[in-house]
Amino acid sequence: MTPPLPQASPAPKAPAEALLAEAADLKNASAEAVLAWTERRFGARAAIASSFGVEDMVLIDLARQHAPSLRIFTLDTGRLPPETYELIEVVRKRYGATVETYFPEREQVEALESTKGYFSFRQSLEARKECCAIRKVAPLKRALAGREAWVTGLRREQSVTRTDVETLELDSTHGLLKLNPLAAWSSRDIWAYVRANGVPYNALHDRGYPSIGCAPCTRAVKPYEDERAGRWWWESAENRECGLHPVR
Ligand code: ADX
Ligand code: SF4
Repeated sequence: MTPPLPQASPAPKAPAEALLAEAADLKNASAEAVLAWTERRFGARAAIASSFGVEDMVLIDLARQHAPSLRIFTLDTGRLPPETYELIEVVRKRYGATVETYFPEREQVEALESTKGYFSFRQSLEARKECCAIRKVAPLKRALAGREAWVTGLRREQSVTRTDVETLELDSTHGLLKLNPLAAWSSRDIWAYVRANGVPYNALHDRGYPSIGCAPCTRAVKPYEDERAGRWWWESAENRECGLHPVR
């Protein structure tokens, strides 16, 4: 039997607003500095949320150097492309990292697929959000329970829904600090780091997928399209969020 994952050491939870004030100096700090502060302040009580897109690969690589205690979790929706699972295995081996997996509730997926089929998300925005709520948003809530901070690969440049992403934010939905150390990074910065440091990345990126989510809801983009144009491509740009991050 697989042994249980080690638990983060318990510590009194500081009110999130107080944390935000304490970290105010980091607003314009480098990704390295933000991660180092997160390591000192939270250690294993903070976690990186990773979809294993290229931003998250940069985060993992930086965190191994500047914040090695941070946990890594992924939301396995059950519909990820095989290339993503392959990359997770590469990460486990190359970095010796434990990737904590959060899966949707079995009963909810069974009910969804039994009553609405396997592609209900194509039928309407509401149906798509229902699927994301079951497969992503509910598991995220479980993944964040008991943690004090989470780290994401969000960048301002990614889309019209992300132009005001801050390095440090208060996640009022989950009541903890949210750190986005790459908020100011451009796509060019990300790829320069990957090339300079030999960071592994999802094979789909080389096939025209700048952004990668669930297989049936992600496609390659044309050279002139924006980087999230292949996510839920049948919907308008301002709707292209799944509920993990607030629409601004
Ligand atoms: S999203 O619409 O899927 O949320 P994107 O793929 O751009 O957008 O991811 C943005 C950030 O959300 C990632 O850098 C990561 O921190 C987090 N994230 C997205 N999908 C997952 C996932 N399946 N598991 C864990 N974290 C995720
Ligand atoms: Fe469902 Fe698509 Fe959302 Fe994945 S991205 S949870 S398959 S609607």
